[in-house]
Amino acid sequence: MDKVYIFDTTLRDGEQAPGASLTVKEKIEVAWQLERLNVDIIEAGFPIASEGDFEAVNLIAKKLKKPIICGLARSLKKDIDAARDALKPAKRKRIHVFLATSNIHMQYKLKKAKDEVLKQAVKAVKYAKQFADDVEFSPEDASRTERKFLFKVISEVINAGATVVNIPDTVGYAVPDEFSDLIIQIKKNVSNMDEAIISVHCHDDLGLSCANSLAAVKVGAKQVECTINGIGERAGSASLEEVVMALKTREDFFNFKTSIKTQELHKTSRLVSHLMAIPVQPNKAIVGANAFRHESGIHQDGVLKMPKTYEIMTPFDVGFKESNMVLGKHSGRHAFMKKLEELDIKLSKHDFENAFDEFKKLADKKKEIFDDDIIAIVEEGIEKAPKVWSFVYVHTVTGSSTVPTATVKLKKDNKIHEDAACGDGPIDACYNTIDRIIGFQPKLLNYNLKAVTSGRDALGEVTVRLKHKNKEIVGRGTSTDIIEASTKAYLNAVNKIVS
Ligand code: KIV
Ligand code: ZN
Repeated sequence: MDKVYIFDTTLRDGEQAPGASLTVKEKIEVAWQLERLNVDIIEAGFPIASEGDFEAVNLIAKKLKKPIICGLARSLKKDIDAARDALKPAKRKRIHVFLATSNIHMQYKLKKAKDEVLKQAVKAVKYAKQFADDVEFSPEDASRTERKFLFKVISEVINAGATVVNIPDTVGYAVPDEFSDLIIQIKKNVSNMDEAIISVHCHDDLGLSCANSLAAVKVGAKQVECTINGIGERAGSASLEEVVMALKTREDFFNFKTSIKTQELHKTSRLVSHLMAIPVQPNKAIVGANAFRHESGIHQDGVLKMPKTYEIMTPFDVGFKESNMVLGKHSGRHAFMKKLEELDIKLSKHDFENAFDEFKKLADKKKEIFDDDIIAIVEEGIEKAPKVWSFVYVHTVTGSSTVPTATVKLKKDNKIHEDAACGDGPIDACYNTIDRIIGFQPKLLNYNLKAVTSGRDALGEVTVRLKHKNKEIVGRGTSTDIIEASTKAYLNAVNKIVS
């Protein structure tokens, strides 16, 4: 059976999603998980775009040995130089160069004629080839490019040394029959096409990215570019988990396999959603919370009698862990450790002790501690941001006819700092107070509160996105008290800013 290569671009195209930026450390955490997921290629960033992107690509290239590490570059010498430098330590590297080829992009964006674009593409591939054997070329907006010109560009970049030719549906305009026909025509009309791999890169503006990618695979595309949770520019990109599970579940139809360890999908989705502070909708295919929940009595009855009546794949296939061991106040260290093992969470001794302490505190407030509570405690406990400011205490006064007021106590260098302020609501009052204590005022771009599990005593998880000096930072906090969770989330982001 032939293999389809999975090219993950969560850290590049995915990170272009509005509000999805990650710190370098967070990118590395995602990259490790992508390696565990066993993707073939990781597009780690766009090295010329920023110092942070360069550093992330460079560190990922240094640390990861299994997947091919790829860096994006426009068809410009300075971009390719940056990609070359960032990828230097990689065991297996790829430089990905792109240039728009559609009339609308050439005329309005590039202001270049066809022959200039063709020359620039060939020159860029030749230049990149001096630094990497593996060079990918993308004719941007390929699905809206005049076909004859597209065939010519593809043929010439292959002659120049491109090993992979990626066909992007940049604006998500294609429909499946048309897109598969494009791949068929490329194979027919580009005489040297068998010297390179055809890749596809589809956006989801019409909700067709996964369908278009699969239609292309069916007729000969050998690499699919996709992202975890389908994040990406605008409406996003083809979702990795959907493409992979469609190929696996309908292997009878496609007759292709991938190298993805599908049991890592849920964990990867959760990590990306958590770090980017972009929630996954409950009805999202494969990784949404409802993807394997059966509500109707008829369906439940069917699944109990024979799971395949209503389940085309099992939750276990994609890494949902079902457990009937619910912890509580009387659970000890041993049960907690067992639960972590069951959830496949490995902690250092220090992190384990912190997580256990937090678990005990939570168990005093909450009757039943579910798996998601434990994951939330652990994620908060092993938060990497140094605690310049630590949370001590918060007290708010609020009501329908009271001016909301907050008193906050924080600790820095073993010294307690306390202040009070008013606000539009208790959370605004807390944030105003923190601003007075820390001496600056980050802008709150986004605030999100969700219950980690069901029930009135559920743990609340708050995510905030702050902006300070042109940098966007995400902070998180959990507590059964939403004011405390909100304060901790704000403080978490502040600590990332000051460190
Ligand atoms: O959507 C697109 O065309 C891209 C290219 C850089 C491949 O992201
Ligand atoms: Zn894209």
